[in-house]
Amino acid sequence: MTWSTADIPDLTGRRALVTGATSGLGYETALELLRHGAEVLIAARNPEKAARSAADLKQASGREPIVVELDLADLTSVEKAADQVAKTYDKLDLLVNNAGVMATPYRQTADGFELQIGTNHLGHFALTGRLLPLLLKAPSSRVVTVSSFMHKTVRAIHEADFRRPEQGYSKWVAYGKSKLANVLFMLELDRRVRAAGTNLLSAGAHPGYASTHLQTHGPKLAGRSFEARIWTGINKLVAQPAAAGAWPSLYAATNPDLRPGSYVGPGFLEYRGKPAIVLPTRTAQDPALAERLWTWSVEATGVDPVLTVLR
Ligand SMILES: NC(=O)c1ccc[n+]([C@@H]2O[C@H](COP(=O)([O-])OP(=O)(O)OC[C@H]3O[C@@H](n4cnc5c(N)ncnc54)[C@H](OP(=O)(O)O)[C@@H]3O)[C@@H](O)[C@H]2O)c1
Repeated sequence: MTWSTADIPDLTGRRALVTGATSGLGYETALELLRHGAEVLIAARNPEKAARSAADLKQASGREPIVVELDLADLTSVEKAADQVAKTYDKLDLLVNNAGVMATPYRQTADGFELQIGTNHLGHFALTGRLLPLLLKAPSSRVVTVSSFMHKTVRAIHEADFRRPEQGYSKWVAYGKSKLANVLFMLELDRRVRAAGTNLLSAGAHPGYASTHLQTHGPKLAGRSFEARIWTGINKLVAQPAAAGAWPSLYAATNPDLRPGSYVGPGFLEYRGKPAIVLPTRTAQDPALAERLWTWSVEATGVDPVLTVLR
């Protein structure tokens, strides 16, 4: 594929919300959306970081993003953020579920869920559900959910994975499961919004391997600064720049011919390069598992996106 960011259409009049835009792929995604004329809301948990990113984005694009305070690891914060957006705006054209944490030591969200599944999946599940009415007010809207090649490393997910495992905790297995949940959710949302006859398109993306703060956040949280430095070195050697890592998300968010339920990744071995349509694993495409995950997520978050769509 010869796609480049120059192929992103004019987005004037379109409003986007990007989670995790204080760093890495989310920042680069927000930047290109701004450069192409969109109004961009950056949802972030750290107000100082958000203010710095907003200033940087304004300087780089000439357009000022709007900051929305959001901690995905706290369902009350998700509710507040969604309420604020719903009260302020008449429609939302694009939601990019991008924020994430990787390979963190065992920690819990404010609501007692394992941190990675709680942030990467349950927070975004609740956010999407709460923003659906606003998304459905746009003439044609999209939700792009960012997953990872790492979803391929796990073959199952259970409701028990939302909580502390009875035996042992593997930070990599927990990350893989959270990213499997991202794809299952993206595809189940696609099936549900199409069955309901809505104008919303659900798609997924993954960046391959991009140099961001993702790799150092977990070790830093565990107090392992040496491991964080090693990751920084590995990133310099083998990762693509964050800007290139954002291409699949941008393609999924803006390509006018994208088919619903598409999953976009880097074309070269799903590791780096120009975006291409790629395939999630068979487990990630299992509709029965996706339906179960949906039910568990409704119970865990108290947000029922299906009812919101049909209401
Ligand atoms: N980089 C890669 O190679 C790679 C590969 C596969 C998939 N991904 C996926 O790409 C996405 C973006 O990651 P990245 O590589 O850009 O990492 P990053 O540079 O660490 O950025 C992660 C973003 O998520 C935000 N975030 C984390 N926890 C949050 C919470 N509780 N509430 C709100 N925001 C939160 C961070 O905010 P703070 O600035 O406050 O920490 C930051 O803005 C993730 O979903 C990740 O799984 C990345």
